[in-house]
Amino acid sequence: MAPHTEQLTRPAVQLRGLTRSFGGRTVLDGIDLDLPAGQFTALLGHSGSGKSTLLRAVAGLDHEVAGSGQLTAPGRVSVVFQDSRLLPWRRVLDNVLLGLDGKDAERKGREALEEVGLKGRERAWPSELSGGEAQRAALARSLVREPELLLADEPFGALDALTRIKMHALLRELWERHRPSVLLVTHDVDEAIVLADRVLVLEQGRIGLDLTIDRDARARGEYRLRLLAALGVTEDVR
Ligand SMILES: Nc1ncnc2c1ncn2[C@@H]1O[C@H](COP(=O)(O)OP(=O)(O)OP(=O)(O)O)[C@@H](O)[C@H]1O
Ligand SMILES: [Mg+2]
Repeated sequence: MAPHTEQLTRPAVQLRGLTRSFGGRTVLDGIDLDLPAGQFTALLGHSGSGKSTLLRAVAGLDHEVAGSGQLTAPGRVSVVFQDSRLLPWRRVLDNVLLGLDGKDAERKGREALEEVGLKGRERAWPSELSGGEAQRAALARSLVREPELLLADEPFGALDALTRIKMHALLRELWERHRPSVLLVTHDVDEAIVLADRVLVLEQGRIGLDLTIDRDARARGEYRLRLLAALGVTEDVR
């Protein structure tokens, strides 16, 4: 099979009956989910609904979830969090290269920084970066690993509105160029619709709504209402 065809047919992530409880309280209640390779998916849900728990499980960061169901994920996974998690004692390029070796690593690191608009800041310290720049460095650090799956847990949650809009464009552009599967956790319905091709709503430990987004801008208002309704917001509060 040609690699391209294979990419379209084989899911990158497959969950069957994934369950996670904390102290007898069930947070993920038998989740079944397939994420096709190369798809950009957003995950919405109330605070405490289990979004980060699901993301951590898929990232392989939750060892106790194993055995609760079936979980298949690619080998090369990168995770981006709300804070950049750059090491303050390493310069930006060294943060991007952390844990990488091979003679090409530095060149790739420099290229990744250029892709996120940080060319020239390779030798800066993390403390010298703005919040948006630090998140861009975090994106470069994940990109340089050429992930098959990019997991992002509210990566823009701490940024101001204008920086957020710029980051949306950058993330979508990077996704179009590299085509990893993306699972983006967000609180923000509009962010989900702008960025993703598919939006999931997590409620009571299950996927309550699974919405495919046709990127035709005319339908956006309708998606917004459906997603807000799934999140229990029925009045127009704007
Ligand atoms: N390590 C843990 N020990 C005990 N309870 C936990 C643990 N991790 C998560 N929980 C609980 O599981 C529930 C889901 O948490 P999670 O962080 O996944 O929510 P979330 O949807 O990401 O919320 P938010 O939008 O606020 O980030 C919460 O009630 C939380 O208290
Ligand atoms: Mg969370």
